[in-house]
Amino acid sequence: GLPEHVTIYEVGARDGLQNESAIVPVEVKAEFLHRLAAAGLRVLEATSFVHPKWVPQLADAGDLLRLLVRADGVDYPVLVPNERGLDRALDAGVSHIAIFASATDTFAQRNLNSTLDAQFAMFEPVVERALEAGLRVRGYVSMCFGDPWEGAVAPEQVAAVTRRLAGMGCHQISLGDTIGTGTPGHVDAVLDACVAAGVPVRQLAVHFHDTYGQALANTLAALRRGVRTVDASAGGLGGCPYAESATGNLATEDLVWMLDGLGIGHGVDLDALVATSVWMAEKLGRPSPSRVVRALGGA
Ligand code: HMG
Ligand code: MG
Repeated sequence: GLPEHVTIYEVGARDGLQNESAIVPVEVKAEFLHRLAAAGLRVLEATSFVHPKWVPQLADAGDLLRLLVRADGVDYPVLVPNERGLDRALDAGVSHIAIFASATDTFAQRNLNSTLDAQFAMFEPVVERALEAGLRVRGYVSMCFGDPWEGAVAPEQVAAVTRRLAGMGCHQISLGDTIGTGTPGHVDAVLDACVAAGVPVRQLAVHFHDTYGQALANTLAALRRGVRTVDASAGGLGGCPYAESATGNLATEDLVWMLDGLGIGHGVDLDALVATSVWMAEKLGRPSPSRVVRALGGA
């Protein structure tokens, strides 16, 4: 059945912006986060402590966290790939990090300069030290529904990576459809494989990119299957610079519209969120790809 409440894990400031080639001023990023918090979002992935040459847009991660006025009751996780990233994140005073694994060898190479196996050796000391320091650690798995270089990805392969992240101590694992090719039956198959591998469905989140227009349908399938945390990006911004075919994430506004229709609580003020995405679209110089933002925002 469907839940009474869903936690929206907002990735607009990180996944949404990481692919923008024109550098967004750090003050604009801070205001984006302030506005998202004011719109009622309670989990805001803020930025990434990755190599600044790999993702120049987020090279200002430390500055952003210094500028950010953290709202009460709002969680601000950040991406961290390795120990150097963890050092920088700890310096910035974060309390929640996310490591990001790949379900495929090729993407581990392209995104992390690693391999399917070696990525865990990179993450292990990160997770260990983060947990010791009292941080919470989320895990991502990318390419769960297909890989642009390898093609189909077996649900069992996704489940094996997911299980390893859970075993390392990740409190939640987010299953990424990085290139947006998945469809609802495929969502069931991947969730089934993860549960069969021993990871409870309540520990799983879903992270759909909307490249093929399937993100909302896939989300509904995941909710029916027991998932309670959904990643989304305000205005539908996003993409991954290391996966050419990736476009924006599921738009938070599109998700909120569907949840409202289903009577599922989420805590977000849709008008304030749409206004934020219209404001951000002006800063980026092009309209939001979100259907709901276009319908309600007059843009
Ligand atoms: P590497 O080049 O192999 O790094 O990159 P290295 O360990 O060999 O280090 C080389 C130099 O970089 C060293 O400096 C390090 O100190 C420095 P030197 O000693 O030569 O002067 N360095 C760093 N500096 C600052 N911060 C760091 C850092 N790490 C090393 N964290 C690395 C390996 C993992 C760093 C690189 O591949 C990287 O940064 N990758 C990140 C790529 C990325 O951010 N992709 C997008 C996010 S994932 C995503 O979008 C998918 C997701 O949304 C889910 C989905 O949709 O599926 C999450
Ligand atoms: Mg993503």
